[in-house]
Amino acid sequence: MATLIDGRALAKEVNAHTKQRIEKLKEKGVTPGIATILVGDDPASQIYTRSKEKKAHSLGMKSVREQLPASTTQAELVQAVEHLNSDPSIHAILVQEPLPNHLDDTAIVNLIDPLKDVDGFHPINVGKLYNNVQGNYPVACTPRGIMTMLRHYHVPLASQDVVIVGRSTLVSRPLQALLINEDATVTITGRRTKDLAKRTREADILVVAAGVPNLIKADAVKPGATVIDVGINRLDDGTIVGDVDFESVKEVAGMITPVPGGVGPMTIASLMEQTVDLAEWSAE
Ligand code: GUN
Repeated sequence: MATLIDGRALAKEVNAHTKQRIEKLKEKGVTPGIATILVGDDPASQIYTRSKEKKAHSLGMKSVREQLPASTTQAELVQAVEHLNSDPSIHAILVQEPLPNHLDDTAIVNLIDPLKDVDGFHPINVGKLYNNVQGNYPVACTPRGIMTMLRHYHVPLASQDVVIVGRSTLVSRPLQALLINEDATVTITGRRTKDLAKRTREADILVVAAGVPNLIKADAVKPGATVIDVGINRLDDGTIVGDVDFESVKEVAGMITPVPGGVGPMTIASLMEQTVDLAEWSAE
């Protein structure tokens, strides 16, 4: 049976450390501040932005949650972002994805001050990550959380074969860059990959971020592999499952993240960490 990678327990540790850092910053007169903007009333996005705010408050941060109607125009959203860009009490800006179709997502991401880009989506920050620039800059929070988990559980990265299923800009691509920067050999695959199971079976570390419930079964996993499940899928009966068939894969894998309680809590813990990073960097 695989060792369980306990994202909830690790997130607690990370959050405790973040709280201490916030207390130190407050002693210096800086209260880290995060602002989230949600356009429209997608229920899942409302839950996400609310839970981010709740966590920020519980750690002692300032948190502003702007809920804009689905009819918000590009000009109105631009104004909201610019307002936050120029607000010195806000160190981190998160515009919840996906935006309604009539809004130009790329233009909004490009508008966020790169020094307040807590998602690490701005092309300047993406470029630094891809070029393995040394120094301080934000990176996407889900990949950051995954890297924290791998480090905490002493999973070797250098020279290891990593296969990522999924090619998203939010998760897979920045994770690929972070892993390449640690000298892993990383293959990005997707639903259209020829003989996907043949590829995934080669992975020492298998990361699945495809958004397909129970896509990966035991026969697609190398015995002893570390399996990271990024999927969060709600089935018709309301249960939440990942992209990995946990029950069968846990018998083959060396380590595995559960869903829920794996990557999810680490993403939000990383978001909080990164908000404090941005506040510290701006105070330097
Ligand atoms: N929607 C789902 N995940 C994310 C995230 O990490 N950042 C933003 N901005 N939107 C999201």
